[in-house]
Amino acid sequence: MRAGILLRPEEDIPGRPRGRNTRAVCPVPGQSVIIERPMRVLPRIAIVVGTRPEIIKMAPVVRACQKRGVPFLLLHTGQHYSFEMDGVFFKELGLPPAHHNLAIGSGTHAAQLAAILAGMEPILAAERPDVLLVEGDTNSVLGAALCAHKMGIRVGHVEAGLRSYDRGMPEEINRILTDHLSDHLFAPTDRSRDILLGEGVTAERIHVTGNTVVDELMLQRERASGAADPARFGIANGRYALATVHRAENVDDDRRLRGIFEGLADAARALDLTVLAALHPRTSKRLSELGLQMNGAVRALPPLPYLEFLGLQSRAALMLTDSGGVQEEACCLGVPCVTLRDNTERPESVEVGANVLAGADPARIAACAREMNAKPRGWRNPFGDGKSGLRIVDLLIAE
Ligand code: UD1
Ligand code: UDP
Repeated sequence: MRAGILLRPEEDIPGRPRGRNTRAVCPVPGQSVIIERPMRVLPRIAIVVGTRPEIIKMAPVVRACQKRGVPFLLLHTGQHYSFEMDGVFFKELGLPPAHHNLAIGSGTHAAQLAAILAGMEPILAAERPDVLLVEGDTNSVLGAALCAHKMGIRVGHVEAGLRSYDRGMPEEINRILTDHLSDHLFAPTDRSRDILLGEGVTAERIHVTGNTVVDELMLQRERASGAADPARFGIANGRYALATVHRAENVDDDRRLRGIFEGLADAARALDLTVLAALHPRTSKRLSELGLQMNGAVRALPPLPYLEFLGLQSRAALMLTDSGGVQEEACCLGVPCVTLRDNTERPESVEVGANVLAGADPARIAACAREMNAKPRGWRNPFGDGKSGLRIVDLLIAE
């Protein structure tokens, strides 16, 4: 451990021997002094968030730091900034405000990365955290990890070792680069650990922790069920599917985007369901540029708050999505998922029978929706036990 803050004696650290403070005899006869000797130096952790899923998946890490009394610094790149993509999650999840917000906003990949590198450097130079944690595969993740690595600050990658093997996805490149420059790789599953080992990452850098998405879901599930009411949309419980679409490869490709929305409408008709589509701003913008109208079976909604989204998800007949996090959540909630992509970096959900890849072809989307709707539920959750955040922070403490 390079630098750190002496905070508390060792007996509070899980897994460490207790009672190592020392009572020493003072040279002055008849007097003694207690020498407080905190045996552990707690790391100072910088936790980076930038987009909606990072805020949600880093919340358990923030809580774990709070629980263990570890000093942390919350750094927001500002990649997402609209209230419904950013502020609402801080509010709902009770997160403290970010200590710094780079406000990089929207832009090209190069512009976002450059703004993060330039904005993050002086902050890290002034704050000198011992370790910087990033989560996932966004431009915020790569930018912050690269900046910290260049400055000699250790990097921990939460959700390491995921691969779609589709190098056309910006996320795939972000993941690979971040994994290979990280010092601590927190792999959610054995499969992701094996992928990293296969790429030559040394075993001592890898820890299988589960995915923090499960921690947040388990913590919020009850609250979420009270926050969601399908009747708000005039729908009885279970008679709807919930959809999200936002991937660049879908939204920025007119043929795929049209195919997906046609497929959602076909699936709705085939199953006699309403599809509630909670749309990312990127998607609403493109749909209105294309003049694409929803028909009655598909209802376009704005991005929803996490609790409402999770509550609706847990009672949905089916999820239709190109989101990474939603594939994991649906699997944990026991709700079948149709993934609107040709590949996934979450194959565990397909292997347990919770998920199927439908791509962007309307006929295939409708067929997959029928297949998944008819499928018995009750698969195993491969993504963890809900203690990933604590596991990650404890591993850093034990370093
Ligand atoms: C980003 C990530 C993606 C992740 C997603 C989570 C990259 C390359 N992509 O995609 O991996 O799955 O976040 O949601 O990092 N916009 C708003 N308000 C906002 C944010 C964005 O209106 O708060 C609109 C803007 O028009 C912007 C567009 O959405 O141009 C795309 O935003 P951007 O951050 O570039 O990528 P996402 O599609 O959000
Ligand atoms: N989510 C949300 N409201 C929505 C859509 C998604 O709160 O309207 C949550 C969802 O529960 C999950 C996360 O956002 O936790 C997934 O984020 P997103 O799909 O934007 O990104 P990805 O996981 O694909 O990177």
